[in-house]
Amino acid sequence: MKNIIIAPSILSADFANLEKEIRAIDVGGCDWVHIDVMDGSFVPPITIGDNIVKAIRPHTEKVLDVHLMVEHPDRQVEAFAKAGADIITIHQEACVHLERTLQLIRSLGCKAGVSLNPGTPLSTIKNVLHCVDLVLLMSVNPGYGGQSYIHAVTDKIAEARKMLDDAGSDAHLEVDGGVNAATVAEVCGAGADAIVAGSAVYNKPDYAVAMQELRELA
Ligand code: DX5
Ligand code: ZN
Repeated sequence: MKNIIIAPSILSADFANLEKEIRAIDVGGCDWVHIDVMDGSFVPPITIGDNIVKAIRPHTEKVLDVHLMVEHPDRQVEAFAKAGADIITIHQEACVHLERTLQLIRSLGCKAGVSLNPGTPLSTIKNVLHCVDLVLLMSVNPGYGGQSYIHAVTDKIAEARKMLDDAGSDAHLEVDGGVNAATVAEVCGAGADAIVAGSAVYNKPDYAVAMQELRELA
């Protein structure tokens, strides 16, 4: 059992009862609340906007971990910062001026995260680690909850752990997609300290029990 951060993704929550669903993971012992923002372009679905983040904010004091799967994230980060995000993560693949956008996130008072799709190499973020508070490795192709973990990403997690340690970075290493009771030990054993869990929490009858099980298996 490792001391890990558990960030349930509300993508798998009941959107008609979002207040209740947020409170349930909060009292159930989550560390962060992971919010998947999709724009219908970077990924096919459209999900959550800054207005929803603003609506959620009064209902939990937990860290709001906002994952922007959008084109032109530089145009969006200010709205999400104002809405109450604590961490804003952008995709390397969506950013021409990655360093500038990461610095912009920090200048807005948020922690800056950078995410990589499964097929994108770690070398693409090596030169921006000085302004990164979180690396989010996708272990599925983004867009949908409930997909299967891509085992080829496990070596990448270990490589990322080494890259952050070698750089003297204390950035979190978070893994997103297909993390559940069957895969959490592999993910955390490779060096992740934070996990996103959508269906592995919200598709279970008792969210607290589901999170505790993930902690024990990590
Ligand atoms: C996928 C999202 C994930 C997703 C994870 O594009 O970024 O956060 O909700 O869902 P599970 O844990 O069900 O794979
Ligand atoms: Zn996500």
